[in-house]
Amino acid sequence: MKLVLQYVLLLCFFISQCLGRRNVLFLVADDMRPELEAYRGKNFPAPVSPKPMHTPNLDKLASRSLLLERAYVQEALCSPSRTSLLTGRRPDTTHVYQIGPYFRDVGGNFTTLPEYFKLNGYTTVGMGKVFHPGKASGNDDPISWTEPYFHGDFNFESKNKSWEAIPDDWLLHTPLVDQQIAQHAIETLHKVKDAALSGEKPFFVAVGFHKPHLPFVFPKSFLNYYPEVQLPDNPYAPVNMPEVAWYSYGGLRGYHDIHHLHASGGINTTLPGGTVLLLRRAYYSALSYTDSLIGKVLKELDILGLSNNTIVSFWGDHGYQLGEHGEWCKQTNFELATHAPMMIHVPGKTDKNGKGIKTDQLTEFVDLFPTLVEAAGLRPLPLCPVNSSKVELCREGTSLMPLIDKPNSPVKLAAFSQYPRKHNEKKYMGYTMRTDRYRYTEWPSFEYAPVYAPDWDNLAGVELYDHYIDPEENVNRAQFTAYRETRAELHKMLLEGWRNASLFYSKPDMARISVNIN
Ligand SMILES: *[C@@H]1O[C@H](CO)[C@@H](O)[C@H](O)[C@H]1NC(C)=O
Ligand SMILES: *[C@@H]1O[C@H](CO)[C@@H](O)[C@H](O)[C@H]1NC(C)=O
Ligand SMILES: *[C@@H]1O[C@H](CO)[C@@H](O)[C@H](O)[C@H]1NC(C)=O
Ligand SMILES: *[C@@H]1O[C@H](CO)[C@@H](O)[C@H](O)[C@H]1NC(C)=O
Ligand SMILES: *[C@@H]1O[C@H](CO)[C@@H](O)[C@H](O)[C@H]1NC(C)=O
Ligand SMILES: *[C@@H]1O[C@H](CO)[C@@H](O)[C@H](O)[C@H]1NC(C)=O
Repeated sequence: MKLVLQYVLLLCFFISQCLGRRNVLFLVADDMRPELEAYRGKNFPAPVSPKPMHTPNLDKLASRSLLLERAYVQEALCSPSRTSLLTGRRPDTTHVYQIGPYFRDVGGNFTTLPEYFKLNGYTTVGMGKVFHPGKASGNDDPISWTEPYFHGDFNFESKNKSWEAIPDDWLLHTPLVDQQIAQHAIETLHKVKDAALSGEKPFFVAVGFHKPHLPFVFPKSFLNYYPEVQLPDNPYAPVNMPEVAWYSYGGLRGYHDIHHLHASGGINTTLPGGTVLLLRRAYYSALSYTDSLIGKVLKELDILGLSNNTIVSFWGDHGYQLGEHGEWCKQTNFELATHAPMMIHVPGKTDKNGKGIKTDQLTEFVDLFPTLVEAAGLRPLPLCPVNSSKVELCREGTSLMPLIDKPNSPVKLAAFSQYPRKHNEKKYMGYTMRTDRYRYTEWPSFEYAPVYAPDWDNLAGVELYDHYIDPEENVNRAQFTAYRETRAELHKMLLEGWRNASLFYSKPDMARISVNIN
C-alpha cells in the first residue's frame, strides 16, 4: 500500500514536471512600433504606412497568440521601459528614468522576470539586447541568468550613416549583429532541448534583437518590400502643444548624414521630404528584416518539437515617430511613442480557435511579468505595497491571462506612462494616461533623489487629445471649454494613479468614472 502511494506520488511529480513546466521563449525588438499586418485596423499606428507591411512571421505568431492591440510602455525609452517590464514595476519605483542608472543601485534589489524563472529551477539564457546593455544593467544583470550572456559584433554600424542597405552576399561572411543573435538563439535551443523535452529542466530563453533601432542597417533585399513610401500627413506639431512635450530628436540628428542637413530639431520644423521618405523606407525594411530573424528562431522551435510546450512572448520596447508631427525617435509621451507591440502565445490556450485572440483592452508592459508567471504556472506575485524599495518580489501590473477567455472585459481603465524632460533649465516629469477615449498628460516639475516626487501645482503644460475624433493627436484640447469637465475627471484620475485605475480593486466610484471617461 505504502509502495503504491509512493508510486502515485512519483507519477504525479513526473506528470507535473512534464506537463506543468512550460518553457519560455522571450523575444524582444528595439524601437519597433506596432506596425505589423496583424495590427492593421483601428489601432494601427499610422494611416499612410505602406500596404502591406511585410511581417509574415510575427503575423503568424499573432495568429496563435493573445495579441494586445493596445499595450502601452511605462516610459518611451529603452532602459526605463525594459527595466520596468523586467522588474514588473514602474519608473517611479525603479527610479530608472534615463539610460545610465541601474535599478539595483537606485531602486532596489528587485527579483527580475528571468531571475524568478531561474529561482523556479529554469535554465535562463539571455542574448542580445534584453536589459539595456552596459552599466545601465550592471552588464546585463548577471544574477538573472544561469548561462553566460551572448552579445555579438556590430558589423557595418557607425555614426556615419543613419541607414544603410548592405548587399546580402556580404553578410554571408560578415553577418549583422542580429543575424548572429538569431544564430546563437538557434544553437541555444539545441542545447536546452533535451532537458526540456525530458521534463528534467525547462528553459527561459531571452532573445533581444537590436533592430529596427538606428542606424537602420539591414540586408539590401528587404528594400524590395517597400517600393512606395509616403510622407506622413501631419508633419506639424499638435495645435496648442506645450513646448515641454517636444523632443528635438538629437538621437537621429547625431548621425553624420543627418547632421549635414543642419536640421534644428525645433517645433514645426522637420527633415527634408526626400530624407523623410528614405528614413521611413529604411525603418520598414529593418523592421521586416527583424521579422525574418524572429521567423528563423520560431521555425527552429518547431523543428525541435518544442513549440507545443513553449510559451512565446514578443514585445518591442516602445513605439517610434517617423516624421509624424515632424517628430522623430521615441522620447515623448505621444501615442506613437508609448504604444508598442506585445503578444503572447500560450500553447493550448491562445491557439484553440485556430486564429489567436485579439484584444483592444488597455494593457501595460508591467503586465507581462505576472502574465508569464501565471502562464507558466509559477507561484503568483503579490501586488507591491506603495513603497516597495525593500520588497524583492512583487508586481505593479496585472496578469492578462483573463483576457484569453474574456477579450472584451477591461482589466484597467487607463494605461500610464511618463517621460522626464528638462525645459528652461528646470526638471519636469510628463505623466500621461491613455483611457479608452483620451490621452491626458500633465507636466509637473519633478524632484529627483532622494524624494522622487512631482509638484502637481507647478505645471509646464497640460495636454488632452480626443482619440474619438483625433486619433493622430493633432489638436490639444486641454483649454477647450467643452472639455472642462472631462479634463477635471481626467486630472483626478491621473493623480490617483494606476492603483485606482486597476479593475482588480473594488472601488465604489469606478462605475461612475468608467461612464464619464469612456
Ligand atoms: C540582492 O539579492 C540577491 C538575491 O536575489 C542576493 O544574492 C544579493 O546579495 C542581493 N544584493 C544586495 C546588494 O543586497
Ligand atoms: C566614417 O567616416 C569617417 C570619415 O568620414 C571614416 O574615416 C570612417 O572610416 C567611417 N567609418 C565607417 C565605419 O564607415
Ligand atoms: C505648429 O503648427 C501648427 C499647425 O500649423 C500650429 O497650429 C501650431 O501653433 C504650431 N506650433 C508652434 C509652437 O509654433
Ligand atoms: C508535442 O509535440 C510532440 C512532437 O510533435 C508530440 O510528440 C507531443 O505529443 C506533443 N505534446 C502535446 C502536449 O501536444
Ligand atoms: C521607502 O522605504 C525606504 C526603506 O524602508 C526608505 O528609505 C524610503 O525613504 C522610502 N521612500 C519613500 C518615498 O517613502
Ligand atoms: C482611490 O479610490 C479610493 C476608493 O474610491 C479612494 O478612497 C481614494 O481616495 C482614491 N485615491 C487614491 C489616491 O487612492
